[in-house]
Amino acid sequence: MFNTMTLTKAAGALIGALLFLMLANWAASSLYTVSSGEHGEIAQAYTIPVEEAAGGEEPAEEQIDFAALLASADAAAGEKDFGKCKACHKLDGSDGVGPHLNGVVGREVAGIAGFSYSPAMVEHKAVAPQWTPEALQEFLANPKGVVPGTKMSFAGLKDPQDRADIIAYLQSQP
Ligand code: HEC
Repeated sequence: MFNTMTLTKAAGALIGALLFLMLANWAASSLYTVSSGEHGEIAQAYTIPVEEAAGGEEPAEEQIDFAALLASADAAAGEKDFGKCKACHKLDGSDGVGPHLNGVVGREVAGIAGFSYSPAMVEHKAVAPQWTPEALQEFLANPKGVVPGTKMSFAGLKDPQDRADIIAYLQSQP
């Protein structure tokens, strides 16, 4: 038979465990509560990063089938988009701030004799010697990301369709 002492110990242990659970529960809920409840006002001590909804921009962009985009690209739209490049690039065989872009699709990287390319672009030639449509679209998406240190001051064309259209237009400019 158990005596009072055993009973007290057991009860104490039980209450201790309950207290611990309550505290842990309180701590956890104050840490992890997400403020999207009905009231939406609970402060968040810890933000859980949530994946963007399925079909979000980033992963989709990595997996674009650029060849297919280019095959159906609109060179006339590309001519308009080329307005963004005109301040620096000409298509009459003469160089401006940037080298002329006649025949640039398939051309050698940093290949215009007499144009003073940045050391970064000259180095890039060792990695990727030719402006294939794929190389061009990657560069145009993020010039400074693909060729760190390039002197082409251009933020990039975020829309793959715009890149395809411009490349289709450039292909038509031998
Ligand atoms: C603010 C001026 C500027 C704008 C705008 C600009 N570029 Fe450039 N671009 C340059 C310069 C400068 C270089 C040379 C980069 C270097 O040497 O690092 C260059 C280099 C390039 C090259 C590599 C050429 C080669 O011979 O290797 C391509 C391709 C190119 N630009 C395409 C474009 C296209 C397409 C656009 C428009 C969407 C554009 N650029 C907008 C200044 C510009």
